[in-house]
Amino acid sequence: MPPRKTASSSEVLQGVLEALPLGQKLWVRGVTRDLAPLLRQGDAVRVLRCGPGDISAGDIALVRQGTRLTAQVVVSTQPWMTTTLLGTGARPGGALLGRVVSLRRGRWLVPLPRPLSPALWVAQRGLATAWGQRRTRLIYRAVRDFFFSGWSKPLRRHLVGPLEVRLLRPVDLEVLLTFAGERLSVSPTFLRRQLGDRWGRDAQERRGAAVGALDTQGRLHGFAWMDSYREEGLPLDGVWVRSLVVAPQARRMGVATQLVGRLLTEAHRQGEPRVQADVDEDNDASLRTFEGLGFQRASAELTNQTNEAWDAAGSTKRLIVFQRDSAP
Ligand SMILES: CC(C)(COP(=O)(O)OP(=O)(O)OC[C@H]1O[C@@H](n2cnc3c(N)ncnc32)[C@H](O)[C@@H]1OP(=O)(O)O)[C@@H](O)C(=O)NCCC(=O)NCCS
Repeated sequence: MPPRKTASSSEVLQGVLEALPLGQKLWVRGVTRDLAPLLRQGDAVRVLRCGPGDISAGDIALVRQGTRLTAQVVVSTQPWMTTTLLGTGARPGGALLGRVVSLRRGRWLVPLPRPLSPALWVAQRGLATAWGQRRTRLIYRAVRDFFFSGWSKPLRRHLVGPLEVRLLRPVDLEVLLTFAGERLSVSPTFLRRQLGDRWGRDAQERRGAAVGALDTQGRLHGFAWMDSYREEGLPLDGVWVRSLVVAPQARRMGVATQLVGRLLTEAHRQGEPRVQADVDEDNDASLRTFEGLGFQRASAELTNQTNEAWDAAGSTKRLIVFQRDSAP
């Protein structure tokens, strides 16, 4: 069996995949957006490096579209077309890198053997047809909003119990990596390296911080960290709020507000005058979180610079950039 490798950054990953000999496999994280709702942030897929002759309709292919890596369902091989699971427009499939042969979510490993492809194909057609109807989308959103809105808050609060929002320390690394594996698109390996480096330094020298919302059992229900983007090669100055995420059961209880608030306090303590954040323009929950904390929209210049930096790194959505003085 070939050695198991894992990679995360889109550029590094493309290089690794393209250099991988045909027939070898690689675990890949962060390419699952187009397979929602089957896959979610934090899931990993195992990719078998192969050529076009080894792909048929109904397979899930890993493709490169411009600088973006994505996993999509194959619609046809001649002409070469792929689409998202919900069928939001079949398009020319981009450069084929391999076939997805299994999925991993937390401790669960789901093989995707070849005979499943026709079933997946039928399921994809059914989902795409249903999702194409406005009524289905409205019902889905209404059910989702109903569950995570006010009425369920007392029940969820009871199930989750009291949460403590605090800075994370090296002893929290394991619980953080479990949370990251389930909920974050950055890989646990990347987090271990980034935060390990921070935590390894003397408190006076330390730059950046990680915060978590922990229940009485020590389980994490929310997370965010603050760091510079420079170390990943993005030409953006200052410190940024990164990977803000609250588990669904703990949403709309003020957890994100407390997490970012704690990061602001720590930034101030570290002498960082300003904290920045970049948010997808259609992410209402996140936009309201930063606005509620007094963050202001950044200048057009910084917004464009940030969008250009992320476009070059393979991102496709328009970002709103926020800034706030760290002083209370
Ligand atoms: C964005 C997210 C972190 C917010 O977490 P949260 O703990 O529910 O947020 P809070 O309870 O602190 O609420 C903050 C504000 O957002 C609003 N809000 C929260 N969820 C909302 C939703 N689904 N729709 C509209 N507003 C919402 C709250 O009403 C509150 O605004 P208010 O003070 O004006 O009432 C959470 O929804 C999440 O994890 N989403 C998925 C990951 C993500 O998108 N991360 C952000 C990346 S930048």
